[in-house]
Amino acid sequence: MDLLTALRAGKGRFLSGAELALAAGVTRAAVWKHVEELRRRGYGIEARPRLGYRLVSAPDRPCAEEVRDGLAARVFGREVIHLETTASTNDEARRLGQAGWPEGTVVAAEEQTAGRGRLGRRWSSPAGGLCFSMILRPGLALADLGPLTIVAAAALRRAILAETGLETSIKWPNDLMAGGRKLAGILAEASGELGRADLVVVGIGLNVNQADFPRPLRGRAVSLRQLLGREVRRVPILRAFLASFEDLYLRGRKDGFAAALAEAAANTSTLGRPVRVRAGGRLVEGVAVRLDPDGALVVALADGGGEARIHAGEVEEAGHGGRA
Ligand code: BTN
Repeated sequence: MDLLTALRAGKGRFLSGAELALAAGVTRAAVWKHVEELRRRGYGIEARPRLGYRLVSAPDRPCAEEVRDGLAARVFGREVIHLETTASTNDEARRLGQAGWPEGTVVAAEEQTAGRGRLGRRWSSPAGGLCFSMILRPGLALADLGPLTIVAAAALRRAILAETGLETSIKWPNDLMAGGRKLAGILAEASGELGRADLVVVGIGLNVNQADFPRPLRGRAVSLRQLLGREVRRVPILRAFLASFEDLYLRGRKDGFAAALAEAAANTSTLGRPVRVRAGGRLVEGVAVRLDPDGALVVALADGGGEARIHAGEVEEAGHGGRA
C-alpha cells in the first residue's frame, strides 16, 4: 500500500516511521520524503519524536485519492482526473471518452476558462465551486437520453440533502435551485452515430464556497456557503452524488427511468406552477403538469388548447423572473 493509505489505516493514531516504512514498502528515509510531499499536497500530518506520524486532515480537493476514499459507487469515480485549470471539463471528458477511458470516469477542475452552460451560455467557474464531468456509455438510442439531465439533478439534490441537510428543488430541465436562486447547472452532451449515444458527457457545476457572484449573476446565483453561512467541503458531496447517480443511472438503464423520474418530479418546483417556456423559437404558456417518461415537460396550455410536450427549453416560473 502507499504511504497515504497506511496513514489512513492508522485512523488518527500515531504510526512509527518503521511501521509506515514496512506498510508502504519503502525505507525510513523515504517515509519522511513522502510525508513532505503529502504535506505539499495539503494533507495535515503531525510528526512527534518517538511516536511517529499521524494523519490529521485531508485537503478538500476532488482528486483520485480523496474521491475514492470511502466511495460507495462501484463504477462512477473509480477513475478520477483532477486538473487545476482547463477550458471545460466537458471537453476534457469527451476527449478522454473518445480515447477509450471507461464509463464512470470523472474529470474535475478547480477552474475552467471556458465553462459552458446550455444554449451556448457561459458558465462562470471561479475557484471555490465544484466543476466536474462524467463519462457515460449508455448504449441507448439518442431519443432515450432525455431523462439523464434531470436524473443527475435528482442525484445532486439527494447528495446535498444528505451532506448538508439543505433542501433544494429542481427546475426543469437542468437547474438546482435554492430560495429562487440557482445553485447548480447540468449540461449533458452526446456523441454517437446512427442515432445511438456511444458516448455521453454529463457535466455539473455546483456553487459551493463562492462568497459572492459578479454583477450579472448576483441575485440569481447562490452558493452553499451563502446559504449555510459556513465553508462546505466539496469532496463528500461529490462522493455522495456519484453513489446516488450510479444507483439511479444503472437501474434506469436496465429497467427504464420511471422510478428516477418520479423522484425528480416529486422535487421539481416547475410542476404544478404557471410557466412560460421558450422552446425552439415559440413561447408556450400554461401550467406545468408532469414529466413524461422521456423527460419531456408537459404543459397544460393557458388558452385551453390541450397540452404541449416540451423536450428542450427555457422555463420561466411565475415569481422566479427567468433564467440564472
Ligand atoms: C447550465 O446551467 O446551463 C449548465 C451548466 C453546466 C456547467 C458545468 S461545469 C462542469 C461542466 N463543464 C462545462 O463546461 N460545463 C459543465
